Amino acid sequence: MTIKITGTGIGLPKHHVTNQELAEVTGLDTSDEWISTMTGIKARYICDDETITDLATTAAIDALADAGTSATDIDYILCATIGGDTRTPALACAVAERIGVECAAADLSGACTGFLYALDIVSCLIQAGRASTVLLICAEKMSAHLDYTDRNTCVLFGDGAAAVVVTAGSALKYIHVTSHPDTQVLSLANRMTGNSPFTHHRDEVGFVHMEGQKVFRYAVTYMEREVVKALATLGLEPDDVDYYLVHQANRRIIESAISRLKLSPDKFPMNIDRYGNMSSVSIPVLLHEQLAAGAIKPGDTLVMCAFGAGMTYGSCVVEWE
Ligand code: ACO
Repeated sequence: MTIKITGTGIGLPKHHVTNQELAEVTGLDTSDEWISTMTGIKARYICDDETITDLATTAAIDALADAGTSATDIDYILCATIGGDTRTPALACAVAERIGVECAAADLSGACTGFLYALDIVSCLIQAGRASTVLLICAEKMSAHLDYTDRNTCVLFGDGAAAVVVTAGSALKYIHVTSHPDTQVLSLANRMTGNSPFTHHRDEVGFVHMEGQKVFRYAVTYMEREVVKALATLGLEPDDVDYYLVHQANRRIIESAISRLKLSPDKFPMNIDRYGNMSSVSIPVLLHEQLAAGAIKPGDTLVMCAFGAGMTYGSCVVEWE
């Protein structure tokens, strides 16, 4: 017995911002041509008056309806997020309040690998008998963490949320998460400056900092390594997999991985053109869309693979139930 996903849902801001609008509003020296050629991104959703709790709650309600599960059946809410509307209580507590449930509720910071880190923990909880119906939510308001005077980073990210309902099952065949300790290449400085009289340290109000080419090299290396390891562990050939659902950070990263693995691009659905990089939200939104389009069917083998700040990375293999 492992776990299965019984429902998926998403929550998005209203405002869909094209590259052209982003360039116009920020006044940055950038263009639709540069952004779409270098990243594959054409637009992204950005919050105006929506909170991250709004997005997460919409995704949660959508996933519960899809699963046919009542909110009162949930015994654990786990949110993967860089940060909710408040540092404490957790975003999971804010969603629990909105949907009116009393259950365990906590957040997990796994950066862009957050969905896989959370899924790993959820599988442990369910297999240990500590939870039976878990609401796993990924939600990110990346726009709150970006410097809109920095064209190297602000064009890359988007806001959104996705949720999955997880119960006991036998779909999850393999999961592995790990990290390589490098906290410098991709980071978000602390926003808590504090005023303790006992410390001389003052945290800086910060934004996402990224050394793009180093992150690019890490990403391609880890994706190849993780996919090869997952397939070898299960004795699968690359073509035995129906779809590879990989973190949507940059189309060129995904294309490099496809070429290194010598696979057909048809097996790698992408949605980065419409969403940008939504960190932990990328993979569950892609999963939701592929299910909604009828592309993924029971019995299909899926590999999910992500990498993110840390550098965290990991993968899982699912035989869809
Ligand atoms: N518009 C126009 N020009 C730009 C922009 C922009 N938005 N951003 C950078 N440039 C310029 C640079 O200033 C530079 O100009 P210069 O040559 O005059 O100095 C030139 O374009 C090339 O910049 P590089 O940073 O060297 O370009 P690179 O080929 O590395 O591409 C990119 C940049 C797209 C960010 C790439 O490094 C990348 O995709 N890295 C992966 C990182 C990533 O995807 N991060 C997402 C988050 S991480 C995650 O999800 C785990």
